[in-house]
Amino acid sequence: MLTNADLERMVDTSDEWITERTGIRERRIAADHETASTMGTEAARQALDAAGVSPDRLDLIITATVTGDMSFPSTACLMQAALGAGNAGAFDIGAGCTGFVYGLSVASQFIETGTYDHVLVVGTEKLSVITNWADRTTCVLFGDGAGAALLGPCDPDRGILGFELGAEGTGGDLLCVPGGGSLRPLTHEGLDAGEQYLRMNGREVFKFAARALSDSPARVMARLGISPSEVAMLIPHQANSRITEAAIKRLNVPSERVYSNVDRFGNTSAASIPIALSEAVGRGLIKDGDIVILTGFGAGLTYGTCAMKWVG
Ligand code: UT7
Repeated sequence: MLTNADLERMVDTSDEWITERTGIRERRIAADHETASTMGTEAARQALDAAGVSPDRLDLIITATVTGDMSFPSTACLMQAALGAGNAGAFDIGAGCTGFVYGLSVASQFIETGTYDHVLVVGTEKLSVITNWADRTTCVLFGDGAGAALLGPCDPDRGILGFELGAEGTGGDLLCVPGGGSLRPLTHEGLDAGEQYLRMNGREVFKFAARALSDSPARVMARLGISPSEVAMLIPHQANSRITEAAIKRLNVPSERVYSNVDRFGNTSAASIPIALSEAVGRGLIKDGDIVILTGFGAGLTYGTCAMKWVG
């Protein structure tokens, strides 16, 4: 665990600044031997155990991550091997922090068409390896973690009711890791310039996020005829409590029905929504038949919302 007090000793920042501007108090940092695939595998095992489904019954594994173990093979393939899910196809989704919502929407297509019965969607990130620990404008924000969900068939009026996927690719440079890809393969000079680290224009991403986090769920709710009072739990991407507060004011969903754990985990990118979902379910805050809305935004820029009637 890395607290704000720890960060005060690393960069020119303060607990007061971080708490007031972001709501974050601490974040989890993975051990050296842990990776996106090992954390994702652990989350997947917990999801499979909870559902009572053995790995060999998995049809597909979709892993959302921006910090995969390697460029290739995909982290989903590494997890398929670690889980012993030999009957499953496996691929990664790169949609930044919105990756889990993108993954759910893809998974639901396979279930709805009757193609597959068991699709695992995982969000897993080891952001600590792309964090520049000397840059106070970003290093206070992020943490490591993983979460997973297993999708299967259910009655047509339950499960995933609808979704929206969006992107504003013109804002791609606002949040990126510039080096290490085909555009700028890593060189000694690139490493010295920190091109391997995440870079962000925080103010511009903030404006985009506040807009996306209210407009996208509002559109999905309007399309599906869901009123704010019917929402049992809204789970936004956990990036910054100020972004969430601004968005929910406009959405009219009462704050006690908006899940938040950013104070304990920081921003874990694609893992943030499944971690929050798993906590909310574990705490008994989501019951069978509840309307649950997941909504995220992130690098790309991307945004997305998924509305569901909970089965379980
Ligand atoms: O998953 C998507 C990921 N991205 C996000 O969600 C980020 C969205 N953006 C944000 O959350 C906010 O923009 C931040 C939390 C990153 C920054 O908050 P802000 O209120 O937009 O601050 P700012 O960037 O406007 O900076 C205000 C001041 C600056 O000093 P000057 O130029 O006014 O003297 C910064 O240098 O705060 C300074 N500052 C800090 N001070 C202490 C920036 N970072 C820190 C820090 N500690 N860690």
